Amino acid sequence: MTHRRPILGLAALAALSTLAGCGGPLPRSDAADGGTAPLASAGPGLPAGAATPEQVMLGRELVINRDCGACHGGNVNPASDRWLAGASGEDDFGNIGPFRYWAANLTPDPETGTGRYSARQIFNALRYGLRPGATPDVEITSMVPGQGNHPAAPNYLSPAMPWMAWRFMSDQELWAIAAYLKHGVRPVHNQVRRSESPPDFWASEVTPAKIGTHVMPPFPTAAEEMRAPERAAQLMRGRELAASAACSACHGGGLNPSQEGWLVGMRDTTMDFQIGPFVTRPRNLTPDNATGLGRFSERQIFNALRYGLRPGETPDVDITSSVPGQGNHPANPKYLAPPMPWPAWRHMPDEDLWAIAAYLKQGVRPVRNRVQDSDGPPDFWRGEYTVEKYGAWPAPAFPTARETYKP
Ligand code: HEC
Ligand code: HEC
Repeated sequence: MTHRRPILGLAALAALSTLAGCGGPLPRSDAADGGTAPLASAGPGLPAGAATPEQVMLGRELVINRDCGACHGGNVNPASDRWLAGASGEDDFGNIGPFRYWAANLTPDPETGTGRYSARQIFNALRYGLRPGATPDVEITSMVPGQGNHPAAPNYLSPAMPWMAWRFMSDQELWAIAAYLKHGVRPVHNQVRRSESPPDFWASEVTPAKIGTHVMPPFPTAAEEMRAPERAAQLMRGRELAASAACSACHGGGLNPSQEGWLVGMRDTTMDFQIGPFVTRPRNLTPDNATGLGRFSERQIFNALRYGLRPGETPDVDITSSVPGQGNHPANPKYLAPPMPWPAWRHMPDEDLWAIAAYLKQGVRPVRNRVQDSDGPPDFWRGEYTVEKYGAWPAPAFPTARETYKP
């Protein structure tokens, strides 16, 4: 088990529990939103049958850049022996309160992996959190149990699995992930224990009243404002990415921009992290000039997400290499402290990283909140972020030894 796994699990839970106690406005229910039109938006491939190579490649990119492998195996490296094969044994578990969880085998093995499920069952797991092995293979159009084919007695996945964030991805993206898992990965036989859950399979924790729905609240919420109308489409893409990558799980604000404290950074010590002997603190991502990202250019934010370089300590220049001393990458780089998941975010395409930077600078309301600097080793984590640990950027070409394309 890597040290990142319990941290991410914790983050997901923190997001949940923040919401549970929050009286802020919630997005409207999606009972009649018509947001799920799988056949229409799936393009030519899936769910009827074959997956297109484009779907498989998009799914791969998303699985890498959302860090599915932090829990499911192999981290961000599709060449890893453990790529998506699930928990490595009985003792490879994490905890949510008293409940132990084991990350499922996502390879398409027909007995122990996603080979048992249809693409639609995987889609429903990512959009609604419904356990694919215990949920009928039907199109679901509502998050409310008993409505729109949502089972009346739903069996949800353990909330360690961050589906409350993944559900904000577009239909097309979720189908692409299903396509990659079923048609782009080599099967590995690995029987994983089912995670433990309360008798209601988490149903009382993941109601729409507590966690909202996959439909984003209308822009702008009280936490947002439009500072660059001519770039509206880019900002809206950045907004969707911030939600579907769960930036707020660490940087504050529950699951969506209608929640209090959206991206304002750490506000109390329940939000900091202990990394070995060091305390690290999620920073203020709102564009406040004194305490937030207002001090930095969009390019500095891009460089933070692509190369992990601290915006406050890195010159505002175009960087073209991830090797220190080359292509404007500082010879003595100052990297962001863990668990900031930049080794995963850096695999997002350029336009997505620019969209996130644009949204943070131009679509979020500035909030004054000074976050104390993170502690760290004298080398600013340079010894930590090795290719052995976090894989290479760019990712190895498809297919690695763990992958194959089977339409
Ligand atoms: C923080 C850890 C974590 C991350 C990150 C994570 N998962 Fe999971 N996932 C889990 C756990 C734990 C389970 C098993 C839950 C259970 O048994 O109730 C699971 C279950 C699943 C299942 C259901 C499999 C089955 O056989 O029931 C799917 C599908 C899945 N994850 C896909 C993904 C994808 C795709 C990503 C990335 C976009 C991802 N997961 C990221 C922890 C995680
Ligand atoms: C698992 C927790 C976690 C998640 C999820 C996370 N971050 Fe961070 N982030 C941190 C921590 C901790 C720091 C502080 C690092 C430091 O002090 O060196 C940080 C720092 C940053 C910084 C540097 C800000 C500054 O003022 O130096 C940026 C930019 C940033 N995060 C953006 C994002 C974005 C965008 C997302 C979502 C796509 C995200 N983060 C998701 C934990 C996280």
